[in-house]
Amino acid sequence: MSKTLQLTWCLANRCLNSTLNVSNVDGLWFSVFGKNQLFRQPTTNNQQPTTNNFILRDLTPILLNYILTSHLKINPFDIIEQTDKRQTSFKFYPSTRQQARQLMRQFNQLHIQNVSVKLEVLQDQDWQNKWKKDFKPFALTSDLTIVPAWLKENYIFIDSHLAFGTGLHETTRFMTELIKSVKGQFSTFLDIGTGTGILTLAALKYGAKDVTAMDISEDCVTNAKANFALNGVSKYRLFCKDFAKMPAHKTYDLVAANLVSHDLLAMSEKIISRVNKTGYLAISGISLDNFEAVKTKFSKSLNCVKIKKGKTWAALLYKNGV
Ligand SMILES: C[S@@+](CC[C@H](N)C(=O)[O-])C[C@H]1O[C@@H](n2cnc3c(N)ncnc32)[C@H](O)[C@@H]1O
Repeated sequence: MSKTLQLTWCLANRCLNSTLNVSNVDGLWFSVFGKNQLFRQPTTNNQQPTTNNFILRDLTPILLNYILTSHLKINPFDIIEQTDKRQTSFKFYPSTRQQARQLMRQFNQLHIQNVSVKLEVLQDQDWQNKWKKDFKPFALTSDLTIVPAWLKENYIFIDSHLAFGTGLHETTRFMTELIKSVKGQFSTFLDIGTGTGILTLAALKYGAKDVTAMDISEDCVTNAKANFALNGVSKYRLFCKDFAKMPAHKTYDLVAANLVSHDLLAMSEKIISRVNKTGYLAISGISLDNFEAVKTKFSKSLNCVKIKKGKTWAALLYKNGV
């Protein structure tokens, strides 16, 4: 694969009061930014603004982009802009080293502070994937988001009007982290108290092939069913039952139960009986007050391999037969 050049301009998002000394200002800058506060202040207190010396009070990404396109004459469609919490960067792939050096020289002549310019030689790039890496979801308008199609797999759509389980609650987050931690080590999955179905959807993302979800509430089952459809999941078992009254006949590679401590304790034997000989059990919804009691109870039959503790809640991961 051939070598490729990459030129990057990086602007820290908190970067303010940069100095911009512009020589040969061509008037265009004034026509575009003339009414902008940015160009009002001269470099020293007693110096009036002139056409070649300004303090740029707030170098914004928009302005930096403008400099690259209008002053350096880079085609706007060839610039890749990326913004995260720390910085905004503009990447451009020059066709020759000479072009890269010229662009750097031109940019450096503007004496813009707080923008780092970096020229890199990229070797053996897999361009298909490189492009994918740079293309992140972004807000197209205030109410439209572009999501690269190949990231679809990383998304879970949730409607939670009838049930618990948006993913915002700590107990659910602990559960999904525990499920992720055993990614690839389970195929069959049982979700006791599925709510919106969120844990089943997460388990499917992390490799489950055969999923069973149940809840005591009819509303939750209705909600979970709708969420499975929303996420294109058609192969599952879902039913409305009180787990305490379910006959135990099948075991699973991974069992998940995000219930309150009292229910976990009351149904512990039944829950444990559903974990296969080398399987895992993830439990959550344990208030810190009940943590020791719940941990001790389940530890009598299974080995505790992971503990998650927050300010109010805790979750545990157990393995059978270690
Ligand atoms: C805290 S929510 C968890 C929802 C979802 N699994 C999550 O992690 O976000 C607990 C769910 O368990 C259900 N539930 C409580 N007791 C149950 C029982 N004995 N049998 C089946 N489901 C039960 C509730 O209806 C509720 O939807």
